Amino acid sequence: MSIRRILIYPDPVLTTPAKQVKFPLTDELRELISDMAETMYDAPGVGLAAPQVGVSLRLAITDTIWRNEDNKGTDTRDLKVWINPEIIWHSEETSVFEEGCLSVPETYEEVERPAAVRVRWQDEHGTRLEADFEGFMATALQHEFDHLDGKLFVDYLSPLKRRMIIKRMKKRFGAGG
Ligand code: NI
Repeated sequence: MSIRRILIYPDPVLTTPAKQVKFPLTDELRELISDMAETMYDAPGVGLAAPQVGVSLRLAITDTIWRNEDNKGTDTRDLKVWINPEIIWHSEETSVFEEGCLSVPETYEEVERPAAVRVRWQDEHGTRLEADFEGFMATALQHEFDHLDGKLFVDYLSPLKRRMIIKRMKKRFGAGG
């Protein structure tokens, strides 16, 4: 396992739609998943999508438990792997959460999204799964799956705000070339 470098917005890989993952997973892809987990926990973050480490594939991981307030003082983990995920339904009702992203460091903004979603995805064995999510998990999944379409949470902000963020990223992190 190793920690991979996280690309900083507006790196072109982050704004490119990612390709479907094919099964069975190769050893290289299994290593990518464990590296992504190590990278996410190290960062630390609650989610990471493959394009963020420079791999343009429809694969993301989340763990919304371990940094939860209710989990303070414990080290409970709940790593989830989402392969070829799709949001097949979303609620009309929306909710607003303050979002951040490991590819947009030190930037937190409120984003309005559907409050509940139904997700179809594959696990590491290629098994097709489907489930409903709400609350912070629904937002986290929409945020991560957006990455697979080359979209970031800053795309929900005003053009002016986004331009300021890009300027700051280039100045602070030399990002995007
Ligand atoms: Ni993100």
